Amino acid sequence: MTDRAAASASASASASSSAAAAPSASSASSAPSASDPAAIRAHYGVDGLVETELPATPLELFTLWFAQALAAAEAGVLHEPNAMVVSTVDAAGRPSSRTVLLKGIDERGFVFFTNYESRKARDLAANPNVALLFPWHPMARQVMVTGTAERVAREETVAYFRTRPHGSQLGAWASAQSSVIATRDELDQAYADLEARYPEGEQVPAPPHWGGFRVEPQSVEFWQGRANRLHDRLRYVRTDPDAADAAAAPSWTVERLSP
Ligand SMILES: Cc1cc2nc3c(=O)[nH]c(=O)nc-3n(C[C@H](O)[C@H](O)[C@H](O)COP(=O)(O)O)c2cc1C
Repeated sequence: MTDRAAASASASASASSSAAAAPSASSASSAPSASDPAAIRAHYGVDGLVETELPATPLELFTLWFAQALAAAEAGVLHEPNAMVVSTVDAAGRPSSRTVLLKGIDERGFVFFTNYESRKARDLAANPNVALLFPWHPMARQVMVTGTAERVAREETVAYFRTRPHGSQLGAWASAQSSVIATRDELDQAYADLEARYPEGEQVPAPPHWGGFRVEPQSVEFWQGRANRLHDRLRYVRTDPDAADAAAAPSWTVERLSP
């Protein structure tokens, strides 16, 4: 971690779970709450990860690291802290990756929004296995998630769509994401037609072919760069409760991986 990022991480270190529990475009630009840097260094340390001081769930540690990434972004050290690389596999087993924005996180999983007819969505329909990667390079950190993706409830999509800027709402209608188009003009014309139909101030309905995916984590690895390439890699692995007690929360075991 650079000195600047470390300072910024320390400065935000005590951001509470709630401060960063629901990242969104708007929360990404607001600073986490005031902090007690010494306490956080004692608990997790910005320089290392210690098994005995880890929280019980990956959500708690992710929330802390995300708050620190937000603070690094506020300090100009990191761009788009909620950008994550989503990797999917198509029906023929071919992988592909792309960046999307994290728009929600809670005990159920990680949420992003996209076009349900896009390549990634078609992949997920055939194979729900997915990997997420948060590349927080300036902080010498990455978080890697494996799990399965499923569509969020329609009401959740509609509620989120309403919070998007008017232009982004129109863009979701204008773009048949991942399809081949002949020219840029085609896209601009589609947008202009929509703009004429839904001028600023007019409510734009959420497109039926657009919505959220929630990635339910099966494992979450926290990677912290350390000196001499002896990095810390701690991976939470999920154990589901017995079928008889399906309502119980999953439990998590933590294993250390060699760097
Ligand atoms: C920083 C960044 C953020 C992005 N956020 C999203 C997003 O939230 N949702 C989305 O569908 N595409 C997003 N994109 C575009 C995707 O990377 C990708 O081009 C698009 O989703 C089509 O991917 P696909 O053809 O593999 O399905 C983003 C790209 C960048 C560089």
